[in-house]
Amino acid sequence: MNPGLLTTYREWLPISEQTPPLTLHEGNTPLLRAERLATWVGVRELYLKFDGLNPSGSFKDRGMVVAVAKAMEDDARTIICASTGNTSASAAAYAARAGLTCVVLLPAGKVALGKVAQAVAYGARIVVVKTNFDGALDLARELSDRYGAALVNSVNPYRIEGQTTAAFEICDVLGDAPDVLALPVGNGGNITAYWLGFRRYHERGRSTALPRMLGGQASGAAPFVRGRFIDEPETIATAIRIGKPATWEPALSAVKESKGQFAAVSDEQILRAYSEVARTEGFFCEPASAASIAVLKAAVEAGVVDPALRCVCVLTGNGLKDPDTVMKQAINVVELPPSAEQIAQTLRW
Ligand code: F0G
Repeated sequence: MNPGLLTTYREWLPISEQTPPLTLHEGNTPLLRAERLATWVGVRELYLKFDGLNPSGSFKDRGMVVAVAKAMEDDARTIICASTGNTSASAAAYAARAGLTCVVLLPAGKVALGKVAQAVAYGARIVVVKTNFDGALDLARELSDRYGAALVNSVNPYRIEGQTTAAFEICDVLGDAPDVLALPVGNGGNITAYWLGFRRYHERGRSTALPRMLGGQASGAAPFVRGRFIDEPETIATAIRIGKPATWEPALSAVKESKGQFAAVSDEQILRAYSEVARTEGFFCEPASAASIAVLKAAVEAGVVDPALRCVCVLTGNGLKDPDTVMKQAINVVELPPSAEQIAQTLRW
């Protein structure tokens, strides 16, 4: 059985004898060779890293297990975060496991249903605030400073440390780093963590190369592409509906040092990739995650990425978290009377 990240990558993480052995058996997620999707994207060798199969359904569990274990080590009683949904689901899950109180601040109206349901189920104290994610993060920082709760957003360095493990897993499975790593970017934490992870493996001789980092943003919420903060970010990919990324400089460096790029994709491009990956490969990711595929396809079409390169797209979250978005596209559902003839006729058998 997968023992969890604190055990598997112990020597790579900032943990000691004093750190509690917290786990929900996160990590060790599949890296799927995606041949049919590769044809659609226009590359020869494509892999999907499905981090939606983590215990709370997103990559956040990689960093959260470290951040919450360290909060326990420091005798914290309460953790707090602002979230577009996944961070709060993950924080609430690990707080439940650790016996801590979890406070989550959610932007009003824009969090996918399944993510709110998770925080409810795990027993978090949920506060919906009439602001967007950027405003909620400011509040979480203030509450943490003034009232002493441990902040577990990705500005917490332990979160970034834990998230480096995804890069290790990809190298461990492929036997080396890929040529291109495409992922969705919101706050900038995950792209920072991947780059740090790939660099560390490379420095210690576990891989021979470094990938180019391709950061996909939704065109209505693309501060990294525009090179400046945005006041009113908007996108169907609510997980990355962020205008003022908290991890700015390190994310820019990851792209610059790796000779990669940030690029914007429209909501239409995101939804097309979202539908395509589920229908051709059987991996159902959430809309934000599909920005990784959309941005790679756009880069290949623009001649920025050579189709012969070995590419990995990171699917950061599980599609089940956002049932509303998929049901809006549900053109393949019909309601019929209980008659075999009618059903067969409608299906044109
Ligand atoms: N993909 C998903 C599914 C996310 O939930 C997020 C961020 C990202 C990508 C972007 O990662 O912020 O490290 O650049 N979600 C945060 C949250 C903001 O609150 O759950 P990033």
